[in-house]
Formats: sequence, C-alpha cells, structure tokens
Amino acid sequence: MLDAVLRRGQTLEAAASAARALPPADRALAMAIAGETLRRLPDLDDLIDSVTRQRLPDDSKARTVLRLALAQKIGLGTPDHALVATALPLVDGGPRRLVHGVLGTLLRRGLPVMDALRLPEAVEQRWGAAWGDDVLAAARRQIAKRPPLDLTFADEADALAYAAAHAGTSLALRHVRVASSSVTELEGYGEGRWWVQDLAASLPARLIPAAAKEVLDLCAAPGGKTMQMAAAGHKVTSLDASKSRLERLRENLARTHLAADIVRADALEWKSRGTFDAILLDAPCSATGTFRRHPEVLYRARPPIVAENAGLQTQLLDRARNWLKPGGSLVYSVCSLEPQEGERAIESFLATQPDFAISPPASGELPDFVTSSPEGYVRILPGLLEEQGGLDGFFMVRLVRHA
Ligand SMILES: C[S@@+](CC[C@H](N)C(=O)[O-])C[C@H]1O[C@@H](n2cnc3c(N)ncnc32)[C@H](O)[C@@H]1O
Repeated sequence: MLDAVLRRGQTLEAAASAARALPPADRALAMAIAGETLRRLPDLDDLIDSVTRQRLPDDSKARTVLRLALAQKIGLGTPDHALVATALPLVDGGPRRLVHGVLGTLLRRGLPVMDALRLPEAVEQRWGAAWGDDVLAAARRQIAKRPPLDLTFADEADALAYAAAHAGTSLALRHVRVASSSVTELEGYGEGRWWVQDLAASLPARLIPAAAKEVLDLCAAPGGKTMQMAAAGHKVTSLDASKSRLERLRENLARTHLAADIVRADALEWKSRGTFDAILLDAPCSATGTFRRHPEVLYRARPPIVAENAGLQTQLLDRARNWLKPGGSLVYSVCSLEPQEGERAIESFLATQPDFAISPPASGELPDFVTSSPEGYVRILPGLLEEQGGLDGFFMVRLVRHA
C-alpha cells in the first residue's frame, strides 16, 4: 500500500485493494499501519536517520520496514516484542541485522511523544509561502491529532436532541460533533437521521440561496451536499461521472429518505435540457485540505497534479456558467489548501466572465466563526476552531450571474 501511494501516486483507498483478501480485522490493521506511517513519515525518517551511519535510500526495504515498525510503536502503541517479531521476518535474507540494530537502538532510547508532526518538505514550503508560519504550525499540530467526527442532520431540532443525548457539540445549524468512533455503530445511522460530513464540507451548500428552486449539484457523489440541499427543500439534480460513487449517493439518499434526480454523465460533455436557479460545483481537486484523515494527499498533490486539477476546474466552471439562469448563484468549492485551485481559479474565471460577480456570504448564512476575505472568498485554514478539534481545509465562493 505504501509503495502504491508513494511511488505510484495512488490514493490509500485504491491502494487498499491489495489488502482485499485479508480478514476484516487484519485489513483494518494494515490500513491503520499505512495511515500512521504516511501521517508521520518525515518524523519517522528523522528518527531512522538519527541512528544510521549511512542514509538508507528512500525506497529501500530496510527503511520501509523500519517506518512500519516505528509507526506502529508511536501511532498504535504496539508492544516492542510484537514489533520486532513482525518486522524482522520481512527482511529475512536481507538487511535483517541492520533493521534489528536500528530498531533496538531506537526502542532502548525511547521514542518521543509528538504533539506536532512535520509535513513533507515540499508541502511545508508551499503552505508556508501561501498561508504563513502560524497556519503551517497549526497544520503540524492538526495532523498529530485524531480528527473528531462531524455529522450533518436533515433537521435542526433532531441535531440539538442528538447533541444533548450523546455529549456532542453543535457548532453550526444541523451539525453535531462527536468523538471519533465507528460510524455504523453510532445511533441513528440506519434510520438515516444524519450523514458524516466534515463541518467545513457542509459550508458550501449553506451558500445556496433558500429561494433557489431547481439546483444542479454538478460533481455530486457520494452526495453529502446533495443531501443537505434536498433536506433544505431544493429540487436537486445530482450529476457525477463515477458509477461507483453514484451508487454510494443512491444508497445515501435511500438511507436518509431524501430525493434527487440522478444523472451519470461527464460534466464536460453533458447537454442540459434546461437552466437552474443555482449550481453547486464542488470540483474534483488535490484534496490537500483533507490531510488529517487522508495523509497520502500530502504526497500525491505534486505541482503537476495541482496544475492539472486547476485546468479541469477552469473547464468545469466554463461549463457550469451556461446552465445558470440570469440572477442565479454558482457556488464553487474545493477541499484544497492550494490557492491555484481556489482564489486563482476564480480570479481567472472572473477575468473572462464580466457577467459574473462575487456575492459574499450574508450575515447568518454561515456559522459565526467563519469570515470571508475582502473579495468575498471563504477560506478555511488549519488553526480555525483548533480547540474544538479543527476543520478540513476548504475554499468556497458564491458567484452571481447578472440578470
Ligand atoms: C469533491 S468530489 C464531490 C463530493 C460531493 N460534492 C459530496 O459532497 O459528497 C468530486 C466529484 O467529481 C466527480 N467528477 C470528476 N470529474 C468529473 C466530470 N468531468 N464530470 C462529472 N463528475 C466529475 C468525481 O467523480 C467526484 O465524485
């Protein structure tokens, strides 16, 4: 899995197909080890390098096995004897003595407790330049913690009752934050009272005007934002290109007893029969804002990938504008911390589309802790609500087409 992510640029989810044949408990353990390793990679490498005389190559088996063993010790609290017993057979007939020696030295020395983790060098430089040292320091603290679980409810009274009954915190309308746990075991899942959605991811749909009747959710699957808009009473058309993700959207709608018209199509080719009062374009992106739950994004989102995404976002914006009624709202969002996919993408759209203008959030549309920039952009950065567990990184903006 690590190899697939680090060398072949796959998502951890796709890479996990390698573990499909394992019994569920083993598969979960393999995923947890891979996740902890990716989350802590620069710090694990520092530890390894602190006791080797010659730097082990990045893709050497010895380094990989040491990373796995140390991630289990630090991240999962695996006992030393179990680490040694599972790590050494992986290097039988190879650098066994070296791995044994390095691991023994580090375990004897004692491993540090870390309340902030280093991010990959390239990401530190990029985010430091884009957002400054305070945001970077907050990102390092955030990746060291287990993120909380955010639930979005169809109904506000239900959310408040649930928060009271389950020691949850409501940080926005129809939102409840609970300590992380197994989702399907939480009460109310089967009945479809709520769905899992990071609080930041629940913000863009809140910018769709209440008066909009027909709404197009342009990159809709697996449907978090479709469910929000359907629950708010809009008539939603949910379009996505991915069959498997639309299947999840369908299941989500069935579970929550909500409805939407589902269209499977490539948005770059789809021909709409009509126009919409509002469009939500939650565009595909590098997803670097989700680094707490998906640390592999830090390795996958190299500059060419970010540039490729920005190109696709520009094309999608260009398609979306044709399907909006005059006076209608186009909400654009990405779960990315790269300005190229957020502020810069919108600047270049507006430079060529004089009939569109930014419509900043009005008071009460978003929770009070969210502020917008002087231009009217909403940018969610690491550090926001840190005491309460933080949010994913996000960008969103509402554009209005002149009547
Ligand atoms: C950020 S995700 C959407 C998440 C969704 N809005 C939610 O809240 O659950 C982006 C989606 O865009 C879809 N997508 C990517 N390229 C597309 C295209 N050309 N046409 C339609 N959908 C596309 C992907 O399949 C993916 O489901």
